[in-house]
Amino acid sequence: MPSKYFTYKDIPFPENFYSPEVLSFVEEEFQVQEDDVFNVTFPKSGTFWMVEILSLIRSMGDTSWVRSFPTWERAPWIEITPKEKDLPTWAQPRLLSSHLPIQLFPKSFFQSRAKVIYTTRDPRDVCTSLFHFSKIMTFFKQAESSEDFIEEFLSGAVPYGSWFDHVKGWLGLREQSNFLLVTYEELKKDIRGSIERIANFLGVHLSSAALEQVVDNCSFQKMKENPMSNFSQMSSQYVAKDRGTFFRKGVTGDWKNLFTVAQSERFGQIYQEKMKGFPVHLPWEDPEVKG
Ligand code: A3P
Repeated sequence: MPSKYFTYKDIPFPENFYSPEVLSFVEEEFQVQEDDVFNVTFPKSGTFWMVEILSLIRSMGDTSWVRSFPTWERAPWIEITPKEKDLPTWAQPRLLSSHLPIQLFPKSFFQSRAKVIYTTRDPRDVCTSLFHFSKIMTFFKQAESSEDFIEEFLSGAVPYGSWFDHVKGWLGLREQSNFLLVTYEELKKDIRGSIERIANFLGVHLSSAALEQVVDNCSFQKMKENPMSNFSQMSSQYVAKDRGTFFRKGVTGDWKNLFTVAQSERFGQIYQEKMKGFPVHLPWEDPEVKG
């Protein structure tokens, strides 16, 4: 059945996975707890890599948790399983995930000291990863071509809307002590230092042995081999496993294999327009992109 999107407050969502009632409940009624930890991303920015890192930090490098429960149970999605009764009680403080733009996030969050770790990634790689992902997820609209998909991405016509608005919205919290910005690029460049920074933000001290365990077990290869992390457990109702895999490449710069020169120039031009004057420097902003 071809997938359709509905919009909730101008943001597109696939209709066979989300509902306006649940989104409204999350925004208006979801009760954030003071010690909640939120893993927030725009899709394809390293969400599940972060779930793995956070799970392993929580268990001090012990792998029994990451090998016993799938990622979506370790850090449930508030916009999919928002009811308190549906959230696992064995994980306290709660580890929760969300792709929501800040304006749709639970209102109760803004009166709390709950923590947000926001992971972002070069939007060209996000777009490339999302293009491939859209082909394997049954609830995505199938783009006619990569050209069409890039245009949809740039105009925010993909699930969760505009990458630009998402990033600008969430980074508005960057001065708050309960907010941590992480980039996919820094995870790739310095995973050990990044894990220490994340653990520190969470108030967790990892011994050097525990740190090495976290580093080792959140690697692309280890996650790809772990049935609780590689999405092989996900229902074929949502994922067409014969069309590809969640663990695709796990590299930076793969957009160069998808974008033509003209598409790359157009992307750069829109990026400049949308991010003009935005005061945060992001690692992929070389002169070619930001001008
Ligand atoms: P690619 O499609 O570029 O390979 P999300 O979890 O937000 O859906 O993001 C998925 C992207 O993160 C995919 O990117 C996936 O391969 C990559 N990824 C997942 N785990 C990773 C890891 N341990 N190391 C590097 N990249 C990882």
